Amino acid sequence: MKRTTSAGILSIAALAVAALAGAGLNGAAEAQDKGPFANQIAARHGIMLYRAMNIGALGAMAKGEVAYDAAAAQKAADNLAAAAHLDDSMLWPEGSDNGAHAGTIALPALWADKAGFDAKYADFRAATEAMQGAAGQGLEALQAEMGKLGPTCGACHKAYRAPTN
Ligand code: HEC
Repeated sequence: MKRTTSAGILSIAALAVAALAGAGLNGAAEAQDKGPFANQIAARHGIMLYRAMNIGALGAMAKGEVAYDAAAAQKAADNLAAAAHLDDSMLWPEGSDNGAHAGTIALPALWADKAGFDAKYADFRAATEAMQGAAGQGLEALQAEMGKLGPTCGACHKAYRAPTN
């Protein structure tokens, strides 16, 4: 099995923290934004934030900031997989991109290349399932899956989300 480098784990944990910081800023913009898709955008931000919180819990253990706890790791992995498998298709209506709406950082590319977006979603879902099988099996198993799961968040953000810094 491929071992995750500690540098890789560090960068994943840093990404999760940066994502949470960015989420707060967007939330403030959202409160003032009463555009036509304000609810869909708020809901997708909420789901993303929930995913970030759970991967953050896994990342803290992977990095050694928090002691490995099989039950806590399994709970975070189960939550993450459940959140990944929600049908959120109603949350991405046409016209809710960042060119048309102030409260979002979703790029028009997401709608121009819906098949690519769906494929990246599928990669992410599969990685959360693998994490579900590994998280409770020891720190090394968790770390190995973290190295595969984290990049699936980033791959989609890079293609379909405006940079947050
Ligand atoms: C298939 C694509 C995709 C995947 C997979 C994905 N995201 Fe996102 N994420 C997005 C898009 C698009 C946005 C921008 C949403 C918006 O602003 O309307 C976003 C926004 C976010 C935000 C900012 C929320 C806010 O309030 O502005 C956070 C945090 C986030 N994602 C974390 C994650 C984490 C952590 C993962 C993996 C565990 C993940 N995302 C997986 C596409 C994805």
